Amino acid sequence: MTPMKVVSYLLAVVVVVSSFEDNHVVKEFKSIQNDFGRWKLSLHPEYATTKGVNDYNDRLESYDVTEFDRLKAIADSFVTRLRRLPYEQMPNDTQVDYDILKHTLHTFLSGYQWRLYGPMNSVSILDGPVDIPGMLVEHSPFSTKGDYENFYERIQAFPRMMDQHIDRLKRAVQNNRTHHQVSMSDVREQFKAILTGRPEQFILYQPFNQTLDGVETLTINERTGYRNGAKNWIKKTLDAYKKLISFIMKTYLPRLRTELGVGSWENGREFYAAALKWHLTTDIAPRQVNDIGIREVRRIKDQMNEVMRRIGFRGTIREFTTSIKGDHRYTISSENAVLNIYKDIIKDKIEPMLPRLFKDIPELPLRVMPSPTDGPYAAYEAGSRDGARPAVFYVNLFRPTDVSIPDFMPIALHETLPGYHLQTSSQSQTQLPLFRQHNKGSHRYFQVPYDFPDYNVFSEGWALYAESLGEPMGLYRDDYYLLGRYSSELFRACLLVVDTGIHYYSWSRERAIEYLMTHSTFGLDILEDMVNRIVTWPGQVCSAKIGEMKIRELRHRAQRRLDGKFDIREFHAELLRHGNVPLQALERIVNNWIIRTANSTTCGSASTVHFWGLIVSTILILFIVI
Ligand SMILES: *[C@@H]1O[C@H](CO)[C@@H](O)[C@H](O)[C@H]1NC(C)=O
Ligand SMILES: *[C@@H]1O[C@H](CO)[C@@H](O)[C@H](O)[C@H]1NC(C)=O
Ligand SMILES: *[C@@H]1O[C@H](CO)[C@@H](O)[C@H](O)[C@H]1NC(C)=O
Ligand SMILES: *[C@@H]1O[C@H](CO)[C@@H](O)[C@H](O)[C@H]1NC(C)=O
Repeated sequence: MTPMKVVSYLLAVVVVVSSFEDNHVVKEFKSIQNDFGRWKLSLHPEYATTKGVNDYNDRLESYDVTEFDRLKAIADSFVTRLRRLPYEQMPNDTQVDYDILKHTLHTFLSGYQWRLYGPMNSVSILDGPVDIPGMLVEHSPFSTKGDYENFYERIQAFPRMMDQHIDRLKRAVQNNRTHHQVSMSDVREQFKAILTGRPEQFILYQPFNQTLDGVETLTINERTGYRNGAKNWIKKTLDAYKKLISFIMKTYLPRLRTELGVGSWENGREFYAAALKWHLTTDIAPRQVNDIGIREVRRIKDQMNEVMRRIGFRGTIREFTTSIKGDHRYTISSENAVLNIYKDIIKDKIEPMLPRLFKDIPELPLRVMPSPTDGPYAAYEAGSRDGARPAVFYVNLFRPTDVSIPDFMPIALHETLPGYHLQTSSQSQTQLPLFRQHNKGSHRYFQVPYDFPDYNVFSEGWALYAESLGEPMGLYRDDYYLLGRYSSELFRACLLVVDTGIHYYSWSRERAIEYLMTHSTFGLDILEDMVNRIVTWPGQVCSAKIGEMKIRELRHRAQRRLDGKFDIREFHAELLRHGNVPLQALERIVNNWIIRTANSTTCGSASTVHFWGLIVSTILILFIVI
């Protein structure tokens, strides 16, 4: 064989191997995906700032209704670009990414027809502009002249934003599709709380106080200029906020809808079905969600009754919960003890058990802190990707007796490890496409279903699934603790029934609360808050149970197909590797993983096998050639 021939064979091998990595179809796909990711971030400039992306720090998100058609046209153009790619020529992994991007664009485009429904109700107890100033001051950089130029530009956009909200609310009134009173109950107080005092006392002025003196590249005159200018713009901003709240009081509140659910709007039940589909990422009708809820409630209650019989308690599950509220072994002695109990649970109970079910556990810092305001019992806030800003697990200490000790474990598993914190940390270790790395958009669900999906059905489902992992980790140490776990799952199942009940079957508030009092164990305060939330964000609370059931189903499938080759740690690693994804994509990811794992001959991971396979075949080819 001539040297020339050897070289050309070698080249052939190199081409085969590298075409695997980046053929031009994959490259083109990635550039579409990237363009889309940047465009999507530019639509949510405040969110980008909180994520440390400082490219849009000089503007605020637009709520301008006249922009809708332009946004739709841009989304359409991404679909056209995707369509030009030959799907069959992409490797399996890229096909999965392609499917997810396509799903994102299609979800947005099919939400367009509902743009004059939910999206017009842009202010409520859960949505609106009151928390934006505080969020911006907390997350924006203020160390260079450029930072101040941006921020100064940005505060000038506030008055326009308030006018855009007024325009939306006006259309909601005109179209006779407004919120119910429970969605607006605290709105006036929320506005009042931020609108007291002079411009210099408003939170947006804070960076112009001492911090400004630290910027050395600014002259004295420039600093004075900024301060005077800021006062002027903040005064206009405060006036704009006042105009918005007075519009709400005078024009919007008198026209609130009287029925609790959005099903009472014209075409409201179709709108609700679309919102539900947006959250669940899958074609599942309200009626089916309701059926699943009823079945799950029955199944979980049967399990609970069995445990109660075992410990000799005769009565309902709510009576049981009430009875342990009086038992000092299961109640908290002081508020101060609460945070320490959680820290102990996370560090000493959960962490040592994680390696049983997980591998390559990332170690991003997590703090346990009391919630600054009364609200949901617990909340998780992700930290920065590099760990410089720690994640926070907030515990609400305003109503400490709402929760008994057996409830602590599922809450900790859900919010921290292996729930949200492990999921977010794992996600920050992989190189996800930009739009999936920053998946949350504006955080505001009033825009559903005319919005890009955040695929929280996965993270919510994962967190609920994480609660069940306390069993194989041996963390529910007795039957009382086990009942704490079931109570939590039961509540999520009840929410399927209540969400569809309110918005699809026209339930009243009394009926919703009565259902929750009969079938769940949580206190009245929590239940009332939850009902208000369900009314305000139709469909959102259904994500947890539906997502969890999908994860469980896929796990059973993998166990059945792989049998002795099933490794729970590998399975979890695969689930956590992709970030939040729609359920169909999750299904395909797991199916692919099952095939790869089934085919691997050794017990090494599939990718290692693949790598060595490639090396060996390359050497073999070279050997034959020479
Ligand atoms: C800025 O400083 C002034 C004067 O000390 C003070 O009255 C005001 O409350 C400060 N504003 C903020 C938002 O901290
Ligand atoms: C608004 O909608 C409700 C419920 O569909 C209906 O009962 C009411 O008559 C409508 N009001 C107007 C002014 O159209
Ligand atoms: C790749 O995807 C196809 C479906 O498009 C599937 O049938 C096949 O088994 C997948 N192969 C691997 C290795 O995952
Ligand atoms: C798995 O093995 C089967 C049978 O040996 C083969 O047909 C298939 O292509 C393999 N799939 C992968 C993804 O390696």
